[in-house]
Amino acid sequence: TQRTLVLLKPDAVRRGLIGEIIGRIERKADWRIAALELRELDRGTLETHYGEHEGKPFYEPLVQFMSSGPVVAMIVEGERVIEGVRQLAGPTDPIAAAPGSIRGDFGVIVRENLIHASDSEESAEREVKIFFPGRD
Ligand code: GTP
Ligand code: MG
Repeated sequence: TQRTLVLLKPDAVRRGLIGEIIGRIERKADWRIAALELRELDRGTLETHYGEHEGKPFYEPLVQFMSSGPVVAMIVEGERVIEGVRQLAGPTDPIAAAPGSIRGDFGVIVRENLIHASDSEESAEREVKIFFPGRD
């Protein structure tokens, strides 16, 4: 069984979509929330989390946006949950995301795309350590 690190981004929290998004995750058979916290992210945490994007044109605005308000950080566990949450989220660009997906239903702007989910087992282990250092 797998675990993944999920962030509900500041736009999702501001727009009152926490329940809507968590509900979609929670309703999937076999998946469960293993850790959950509402919190503001400092720059250091974001630089570690998004290190692969440092130097890209969208990096600085992304870090600014991600520290613009509280996020919900979660560990979700269950069968094929890494691929599964990415599928529920839809593609990075919400306009390219199909209706029925979280980004497709609620998003318009690439940066403000509501949710982050680890993209591989290696990313998941790395990101769980960043956000829940006691839980590895
Ligand atoms: P995450 O789950 O948040 O990691 O999204 P992702 O894996 O679908 O995208 P990626 O890791 O490539 O990029 C991280 C985040 O940077 C995205 O979720 C977007 O918020 C933002 N981002 C990525 N590409 C672009 C871009 O071309 N323009 C802008 N403005 N933002 C981008
Ligand atoms: Mg990513």
